[in-house]
Amino acid sequence: MTQDDIAEVLQMERPACLHPVHAWSEDNYRSSLRSGYWMRVACSPQGRIVGVCVAMFGVDELHLLNIAVAREAQGQGLARWMLAQLIALCQAHALASIWLEVRPSNTPARALYQAQGYVDVGVRKAYYPAPEGREDALVMKREVDHVSMA
Ligand SMILES: CC(C)(COP(=O)(O)OP(=O)(O)OC[C@H]1O[C@@H](n2cnc3c(N)ncnc32)[C@H](O)[C@@H]1OP(=O)(O)O)[C@@H](O)C(=O)NCCC(=O)NCCS
Repeated sequence: MTQDDIAEVLQMERPACLHPVHAWSEDNYRSSLRSGYWMRVACSPQGRIVGVCVAMFGVDELHLLNIAVAREAQGQGLARWMLAQLIALCQAHALASIWLEVRPSNTPARALYQAQGYVDVGVRKAYYPAPEGREDALVMKREVDHVSMA
């Protein structure tokens, strides 16, 4: 993902979310690009952006900061595929786990993460802006298996 993709990603992500306030802002993307985070877009065969994934390297872990799939492309396994790319990234960089935060009200995302082996490890109180006030974040984590070849 580059600066040039930001406008299309914003247009894709807002309608994909359960509520527009859940979507990342232009500033979020600009500062993430400046910070050098791992940022990828998934494109349709026609070149349209249908997915976005942002992650940050920690010392021994990867933090998933954002993942979204265009509304018309949902339910086809794209988010599952992007999460599999994160596992491969951890294996390539010898990182032991992936951490993320999710809104308790985001049923599709929680189902996705649970199905992919993420477990609840904590709660951050009033972490997210919500349509009315603020909403907690559930912290989830998945250990990454490392394979070695003799
Ligand atoms: C959450 C999101 C990324 C899922 O993307 P997706 O490409 O549609 O998900 P997939 O097709 O890869 O689904 C993989 C699994 O996740 C779960 N899942 C995904 N969407 C679901 C839904 N609406 N309801 C229940 N389970 C769901 C299922 O277990 C599914 O496996 P299955 O198809 O075998 O049942 C997508 O709904 C989205 O972009 N939401 C808005 C942005 C967002 O909330 N991001 C998360 C921020 S924490």
